[in-house]
Amino acid sequence: MTVISFKSVQTNLHVLDQTPFLLSQMTILRDSTSSHAEFVHAANHISRLIASSALSHVRTTKKIVRTHSNETYTGIQFSQKVCCVSILRAGESMESAVRETYGPLPVGKLLIQRDEVTSKAELFYCKIPGDAPERVVLLLDPMLATGGSVMLAIQALIDRNVDESNIVYLSFISSRAGIDRLLTKYPKLRIVTAAVDPTLNEENYIVPGCGDFGDRYYGTS
Ligand code: PRP
Ligand code: URA
Repeated sequence: MTVISFKSVQTNLHVLDQTPFLLSQMTILRDSTSSHAEFVHAANHISRLIASSALSHVRTTKKIVRTHSNETYTGIQFSQKVCCVSILRAGESMESAVRETYGPLPVGKLLIQRDEVTSKAELFYCKIPGDAPERVVLLLDPMLATGGSVMLAIQALIDRNVDESNIVYLSFISSRAGIDRLLTKYPKLRIVTAAVDPTLNEENYIVPGCGDFGDRYYGTS
């Protein structure tokens, strides 16, 4: 995992190592000619890479086990409880990767949608695990554009007593402007992202981006 910084405030930004496998899947994701099936297949691979990287932010303790050769092996186990909260609709696409990677865990949902004209995010529904304040919360949403949706989600979590420092936001593509906004307002937040893109277009879509993630993943474009 690479920690990159384009402002001192951004030391909590963790960009996945740009391995050939990740880049090949991101290329499929970004290619406007990829089919629905190709998009979903690549997105699911990328989600698993992001999920396993995000678990680096969960504390561990030493665990000693006995192996089949009757020797001991000193390993680790996670020592903090974890839950995930997905921002509907697109964030839901990342849930099964988190479950496959971490194992069974409580799942909360926030329905947040951007207004198609103003790009302003609105919160319509919120249900999070009752003991979320005692857990590391993996917040799932693949696209960070203006940051409005994720900021609304983080505020909903903080309003329900989740500590900002226990939130890890998992993203596929994050705009520089969105990262700046998020980490300026929430400096203790951690962001794990597969890519950082330079700009937004006049409709507040990420450039170069991958288009409307939710539409492409769910085949509604
Ligand atoms: C998309 C995306 C983020 C949001 C990012 O959701 O999944 O939630 O836009 O934009 P922002 O950073 O400018 O807020 P959208 O509202 O399009 O809904 P969807 O998940 O149904 O596609
Ligand atoms: N939502 C998306 O799905 N894509 C973007 O580029 C911006 C917001």
